[in-house]
Amino acid sequence: MTDSRPVAIVTGASRGIGRGIALELARTHRVIGTYRGRRDAAESLQAECGADIVQCDISSAADRLALIEHARSRYGRLDLLVNNAGIAPRERLDLLEATEEIFDEVLATNLKGPYFLTQLAARWMAEQGAGRIVFVTSISAYTASLNRGEYCISKAGLSMAVQLWAARLARHGVLVFEIRPGIIETDMIEKVRQAYEEKARSGLLPQGRLGTPADVARQVRAIAEGLLDYGTGTVLNADGGFHLRTL
Ligand SMILES: NC(=O)c1ccc[n+]([C@@H]2O[C@H](COP(=O)([O-])OP(=O)(O)OC[C@H]3O[C@@H](n4cnc5c(N)ncnc54)[C@H](OP(=O)(O)O)[C@@H]3O)[C@@H](O)[C@H]2O)c1
Repeated sequence: MTDSRPVAIVTGASRGIGRGIALELARTHRVIGTYRGRRDAAESLQAECGADIVQCDISSAADRLALIEHARSRYGRLDLLVNNAGIAPRERLDLLEATEEIFDEVLATNLKGPYFLTQLAARWMAEQGAGRIVFVTSISAYTASLNRGEYCISKAGLSMAVQLWAARLARHGVLVFEIRPGIIETDMIEKVRQAYEEKARSGLLPQGRLGTPADVARQVRAIAEGLLDYGTGTVLNADGGFHLRTL
């Protein structure tokens, strides 16, 4: 019997938020989950939910092309792209000390990679006349952290990419959304988890707790189900209320 379930690509699905999204989507979609180096983690995702796992360094043009070609030849359709893969700077350095090398690495992974992967997916979805694309940005798109300027710039740029792609693709029936996670319990925040937990409890996060990958995945679920379909370009906050200004 042919499998008619929709097809989703989730980048950075081996761990953290992307893994949570892949697990959620695997209930209804055929999921292609990408990873960069942690094959062990990707294999455990595959064992857990049957995802098709593909090695792809999102900062590499050749890897991006190979990923889309894999999806085309194996599935022949693409319903959802979740641009989730991203990195924190290897070292948190003050703006006066930060290096060009780290800047280039973060921008290539967090901004150039998803921007041009989206270009490839968008051409295909435009041919199909349908599709949805999600960008996982961050509260760092609008919050200045003085020891990781490159990360903030990458996420602010990605937020603009959402608007650009949403405006460009609407006429083709392709819808684009942004999810801005706040502080989510994953490997990425391991080094600063304790400080963040204290801040969360003392009022930084009105909802009083850090987020989980499942909190973000549920927002992707709403998009995947079409619940936001008359709102291309919509920004969803997955941040426990961090974005609220209070006095
Ligand atoms: N955690 C937070 O508090 C938080 C808050 C706001 C936004 N975000 C954003 O959410 C996204 C996921 O973050 P996370 O916390 O889940 O991170 P994570 O736990 O460190 O996981 C990162 C994932 O991305 C993959 N990855 C890293 N570099 C890659 C590259 N060059 N090409 C392809 N895949 C790559 C990793 O693959 P391997 O397993 O193979 O290394 C892994 O699957 C990122 O875009 C991040 O900026 C996170």
